Amino acid sequence: MNIGSIIASKRKALGLTQQNIAERLNISYQAVSKWENGSSYPDLELLPQLAAVLDTSVDGLLGYPVNALTIYEERYKSEDYYWGLKPNDMCYDIMRLLPPVKPYRVLDIGCGEGKDAVFLAKNGYIVSAFDAAQSGLDKARRLADKSGVGIEFFRADIRDWRPEREYDIIYSSGVFCYLEEGLRREFTDSLKAHTAEGGLNALNVFVEKPFIPTPPDREKSESYKKGWLSGELFMYYHNWLFHRNDEIIFDCHSSGTPHQHCMDILIAEKRS
Ligand SMILES: C[S@@+](CC[C@H](N)C(=O)[O-])C[C@H]1O[C@@H](n2cnc3c(N)ncnc32)[C@H](O)[C@@H]1O
Repeated sequence: MNIGSIIASKRKALGLTQQNIAERLNISYQAVSKWENGSSYPDLELLPQLAAVLDTSVDGLLGYPVNALTIYEERYKSEDYYWGLKPNDMCYDIMRLLPPVKPYRVLDIGCGEGKDAVFLAKNGYIVSAFDAAQSGLDKARRLADKSGVGIEFFRADIRDWRPEREYDIIYSSGVFCYLEEGLRREFTDSLKAHTAEGGLNALNVFVEKPFIPTPPDREKSESYKKGWLSGELFMYYHNWLFHRNDEIIFDCHSSGTPHQHCMDILIAEKRS
């Protein structure tokens, strides 16, 4: 992503107008508009101040993932696979709905240590996958090598990254919770626009329920200031064909303290 798109996406996520940014930097709103549409760049001296206004770092503005973006950077450093190696059941939904009879292109968003990306690649899909945790990507690459499959892995932040090419299947498990409220519609719209006709988006997201206490290990990230509402993910895909829209509540022991999560699961097909 270029700096203009990053500025626009961070500004929108914070609910700011171009005028708001301009006032804080003591410049004209036309200057901000030009950065965002790529016809000019901010002066170097302005970058730290601009980064502060947009609640990021200069690295973040330039599209570099900020180091240790996620608690998983540490957790993935151990030898064992934190999430195990069993593929998520959405992978089987994908195989049932769009079997790999031709080289379908899959994107795995927030692939972690790569268990699902590798499973799909082993079954004949052409897979690209990204995550914010470098340690997860390193392990995922090792798993792909061991399994004899080639996968395009890259490091990116879901809040800044947007697709630039088309995929047949876009898959993501346990990651959309990192999208701040102001980014969710724009992000899902960009996934939808970059999905081939007849293609699938297979996604899940943790949702809030008033009767389920906040999990003890919930991260303090910005995105969690306002969690996803039950049904919100389904709403963003209201004009696609639903093959699966489930809401499940499950027990979890991840922090050593038993607790529950509620999750919405969506498998939707692009149909014009
Ligand atoms: C619950 S794990 C799920 C991992 C994998 N999808 C799986 O099911 O095994 C959440 C993943 O999101 C990644 N993550 C956290 N913040 C992220 C961000 N801002 N951009 C991209 N990935 C992020 C973490 O590194 C982690 O791998």
